Amino acid sequence: MSMIDHLTIRRPDDWHLHLRDGVMLEGIVSPSFQHIGRAIIMPNLVPPVVRGDDARAYRDRILKAMEKAGLETSSAHRQLLMTIYLTETTDPDDVEAAAAEGLVHAVKLYPAGATTNSDSGVSRIDTVIPVLERMADVALPLCVHGEVTDPEVDIFDREAVFIDRVLDPVRRRVDGLRVVMEHVTTDDAVAYVSAASSGLGATITPHHLMINRNHLLVGGIKPHYYCLPIVKRERHRLALRKAATSGDPRFFLGTDSAPHADHTKEAPCGCAGVFNAPNTLSCLAQVFEEEQALDKLEAFASLHGPAFYRLPPNDEVITLTKQHEPVRYPEKVDTEAGPVTVFDPGTPLYWNVT
Ligand code: NCD
Ligand code: ZN
Repeated sequence: MSMIDHLTIRRPDDWHLHLRDGVMLEGIVSPSFQHIGRAIIMPNLVPPVVRGDDARAYRDRILKAMEKAGLETSSAHRQLLMTIYLTETTDPDDVEAAAAEGLVHAVKLYPAGATTNSDSGVSRIDTVIPVLERMADVALPLCVHGEVTDPEVDIFDREAVFIDRVLDPVRRRVDGLRVVMEHVTTDDAVAYVSAASSGLGATITPHHLMINRNHLLVGGIKPHYYCLPIVKRERHRLALRKAATSGDPRFFLGTDSAPHADHTKEAPCGCAGVFNAPNTLSCLAQVFEEEQALDKLEAFASLHGPAFYRLPPNDEVITLTKQHEPVRYPEKVDTEAGPVTVFDPGTPLYWNVT
């Protein structure tokens, strides 16, 4: 059997991406759009993107940053799939109008306090039911950060508890609501999503496919592996790898590429987030090859996401090539907000987009 060393797939999309704002946005926009086509743009800015007008203004700032960085922007309007940050005062009419104009493609639920810049998130889920009902009517997906914030619940259990306490009750209550469980990290989430009959998908990040909590904590704490939901034990990582490479259409790529300036991560109270945009495809190809599932990479990275979001897959293709020498990617990306360390999976990568 000859070794596969080339793989041509439709251009992937990123169904969960943080682009930030201001000088950080300017510094990371190029590596963030190196290979991907479209991206669901997370709204957790300070202040957050809470109304259609905010989403439009943010999209225009991203477009400007893309231009400034010399990126091709003729199709950028179609690339930037904006989201609205759900709060307890979100107006259903505003959400519906922003979706109808083709600007906003999802609404994001952050349980208040769950992660970076989530203070304006939802504490009482009852308050947002009218928005969720409207979203169900117009088939606008809800992206959820699936962790409870109850201080009594151990950080490693927060995703599993969220499914029981919040996600499942909401899905039962709001008939027809389409939900993406973002950046799933556990066997429990994989099982829940796999068992759903319809209207539920999940994104998986490259880093959760590659590292477990030992990588984060053994032999010294690695702030650049700290993200939320936190990486779990090995059994969970293996469940994620199985889901991603299974060909099951409910699982698709969301990198959760989440840049923070190094000094804010390498700190006594370090920020959560892994910046993986520069080597996402190298990481994914490696994982899929290890799982002997390179033939499923296109489905995970380029087909299942558009199908869930009811968009056509990209027409363009990219080619991945396996090199003899490890792929070189920058250790850090310099921005005016400071250097940002790129995800280092701790093993050499051999696949590269050529
Ligand atoms: C994200 C960020 O930095 O914005 N951080 C993270 O650890 N994933 C927020 C998020 O998606 O939870
Ligand atoms: Zn995120």
